[in-house]
Amino acid sequence: MARGIALIQGGSRGIGLHFCKLLLSSRYGAKVIATCRDPQSATDLQTLKEQHPDGLSILRLDVTSQRDVQDTAQVLAQHYGSLDLLINSSAMLHPTGKGETSLREVSAEGLSLALATNTIGPLLMAKYFSPLLLKGRGAFGAQSSDRSKQHNGIIVNMSAKVGSISDNGLGGWYSYRISKSALNMATKCLSIELGRGKNKVICVSLHPGTVETDLSRPYHKNVPKEKLFSPERSVTYLMAIIDSLNMDRTGRFYSWNGTELQW
Ligand SMILES: NC(=O)c1ccc[n+]([C@@H]2O[C@H](COP(=O)([O-])OP(=O)(O)OC[C@H]3O[C@@H](n4cnc5c(N)ncnc54)[C@H](OP(=O)(O)O)[C@@H]3O)[C@@H](O)[C@H]2O)c1
Repeated sequence: MARGIALIQGGSRGIGLHFCKLLLSSRYGAKVIATCRDPQSATDLQTLKEQHPDGLSILRLDVTSQRDVQDTAQVLAQHYGSLDLLINSSAMLHPTGKGETSLREVSAEGLSLALATNTIGPLLMAKYFSPLLLKGRGAFGAQSSDRSKQHNGIIVNMSAKVGSISDNGLGGWYSYRISKSALNMATKCLSIELGRGKNKVICVSLHPGTVETDLSRPYHKNVPKEKLFSPERSVTYLMAIIDSLNMDRTGRFYSWNGTELQW
């Protein structure tokens, strides 16, 4: 029996794809549902499916479509009835692929698309999947021995340190920074609402470090080699944080090394 059921939203590439790999490995033995916009062109995910035909399911979901999110939640409700872990991994830096360096580059379209993908999408995922997470078996995280503090599910919102308002010393990257700050506020609100009932869901924001993926590609040459993590390395760190989560740690923003980041 799979140890738990995990949904990786944005599983086609980068960090999301490596979460799928690690959760499918014998270490976790999870049932993994990976979502992405175009399963046919997600070749790495399809290869993973060949290796784990029973463990991995791939579903089409564009996180900017409320209808897609709602329909996918219905499919999961029918097939599984509950969920233990939701990782919202999908995001975009900016439709141009590069963050704005000054106000001159800010556009309504860029800001709207970043917010739709990075903030509104993950919050809608929480809206439609929290009923399933509230029925989870608490298969991930560090379960508390105190029954009143036991959790059923976990929501991980993949955030970014540049979304920390108190850490912002450089400015720029308006759309991405704003979308991640707002995502962090969503994490906080969710942790309160989903932490007060008899059944509970832990909600955290995580910063993965600077990771060698398509999203950060334009900036790789500026990052010292030892500070540019492979997706495997980052996901190993992030999974160690997820393994340590309990209700005392909900509603917070953690960096890859486990330290708490200020909002
Ligand atoms: N890489 C870094 O250095 C870094 C640093 C800090 C935070 N993060 C965060 O870590 C998370 C993962 O980033 P990454 O580096 O792995 O990025 P990535 O390799 O560029 O992957 C982005 C993922 O988001 C998906 N996506 C984009 N728009 C979508 C939409 N509308 N609907 C559904 N999926 C969509 C992509 O799917 P498609 O294949 O369909 O395009 C892809 O799976 C993001 O939240 C990012 O902000 C990354």
